[in-house]
Amino acid sequence: MLRILKSFAAVGIAVGALTAAAHAADVKIGFVVKQPEEPWFQDEWKFADIAAKEKGFTLVKIGAEDGEKVQSAIDNLGAQGAQGFIICTPDVKLGPGIVAKAEANGLKLMTVDDRLVNADGSPIDSVPHMGISALKIGEAVGTAIADEIKKRGWDIATVGAVRVSYDQLPTAVDRVEGAITSLKAAGFPEANIFDAPQAKTDTEAALNAATVVLNKHPDVKHWVAFGLNDEAVLGAVRASETVGITPDNFIGVGIGGADSAINEFKKPAATGFFGTVIISPKRHGYETALNMYDWVANGKEPPALTLTAGELALRDTYVDVRKSLGIE
Ligand code: GLA
Repeated sequence: MLRILKSFAAVGIAVGALTAAAHAADVKIGFVVKQPEEPWFQDEWKFADIAAKEKGFTLVKIGAEDGEKVQSAIDNLGAQGAQGFIICTPDVKLGPGIVAKAEANGLKLMTVDDRLVNADGSPIDSVPHMGISALKIGEAVGTAIADEIKKRGWDIATVGAVRVSYDQLPTAVDRVEGAITSLKAAGFPEANIFDAPQAKTDTEAALNAATVVLNKHPDVKHWVAFGLNDEAVLGAVRASETVGITPDNFIGVGIGGADSAINEFKKPAATGFFGTVIISPKRHGYETALNMYDWVANGKEPPALTLTAGELALRDTYVDVRKSLGIE
């Protein structure tokens, strides 16, 4: 009798395992990003794919560069039987619309990088979000710049700063404001900080914006630059090269640490792109995908708000920093 019971139990366990496996295979999760060509988002997808392989669910990656594409991406996910999605939206003001569309399609919703806002600009805190600690990371950028100004022996009162800005995105504002806070604390004159508003968050738009600023102030010899991400700062660096400012007279520090920054560090000679605060596409890709999976498969709701850290890296330290963050 005992033997029979034992074999029943074994069958029970086997069936249980089978159900769990079948369940994972039924799970379909979308990962929608605003700029699929940007290395940061490629990396997020790469790490989300690893989570999908590990758990056995299907990951549907969609690039959505504008509001219309976001709408059709969500409908598409609904039509193909997905249960949830993670999104970095092209415009945070689409927030209420995205929430409504997700609901209409019966999809669980999480955001990554850029947090959705209500009509009044306040964050939609009912949607679980993972972003970077924007102010703190911006402060690290400002400190790195201020330290390097000192090291180069520049007179801080005469240095110009390009604030590559994208003020319609709250995390972008926090990042540059963090940098300004540190710079001012180090004695940087506010009057020497010039705004370079970019029309889009890519290198070309930043280059155009920064060129205007640099051309307006031909008398300034030493320049620094900061912005939302590596692409913003790379745009300012390219602009400095176009107007003939040499790397020893330029200090740009970005945020990101993906291929955009790495390719710059790999160049045989140093450019004006002095450093970057490396953030973690592993946390933003792997962890968000895993969180969504747990929500769909096990009913475990993700934390309401997760803010991730960053670490400064320079030309000669980025390999080690990436290794220590597990993003090699
Ligand atoms: C925003 C930026 C990206 C990247 C992420 C990180 O979405 O546009 O380049 O910096 O934030 O959270």
